[in-house]
Amino acid sequence: MSGPAPRDSSAPGARTIALVGLMGAGKSTVGRRLAARLGLPFADGDDVVEEAAGMSVSDIFASLGEAAFREGEARVMRRLLEGPPIVLATGGGAMINADTRALLKTRAITVWLRADIRVIASRVQRRDTRPLLRGKDAFQTLTAMAEVRYPLYAEADIVVDVGGGAHSHAVDAILAALKAHQTPEKETGR
Ligand code: S3P
Repeated sequence: MSGPAPRDSSAPGARTIALVGLMGAGKSTVGRRLAARLGLPFADGDDVVEEAAGMSVSDIFASLGEAAFREGEARVMRRLLEGPPIVLATGGGAMINADTRALLKTRAITVWLRADIRVIASRVQRRDTRPLLRGKDAFQTLTAMAEVRYPLYAEADIVVDVGGGAHSHAVDAILAALKAHQTPEKETGR
């Protein structure tokens, strides 16, 4: 057989890798590629909420309100984090929930995709799928969100700065950071 050995998701210590960070940082795209590189399944928290609700995130916000979305999001996070190891792209607001934060701490290696707010403001303006930005100035709104959320994202195990460049660079940076994060554990057995 050739190629990299698939990661043994039943191995002791195998954990979900959860990407956190502001909307537009590239969690879904980078997460999907990271999962392929690691041989792990991928899940996008927003997609799972949409499947469970049978409607889009925008429609949930519009017809049920943000609080209902947050409840659904927290339930989905619990289900995914209590399951077998995956690469998980979390919604930008998932870490606001204290239960989700606690689960992330015990069940996942968390990676904050930190990006320049100017870069992500220009990215998110290309699509109109994010209810919290609709009709607002993206840069100002993201800056206000960052003030509240950066202290939460900063609880992540790993911080990776992603630029405006190719997502493959972010994947490589995460793989290197994961290796460095996991090395001390392995070295204790020497
Ligand atoms: C949100 C981020 C979105 C989605 C919802 C709310 C937020 O996910 O969950 O629109 O509060 O930051 P992405 O970060 O995947 O865009």
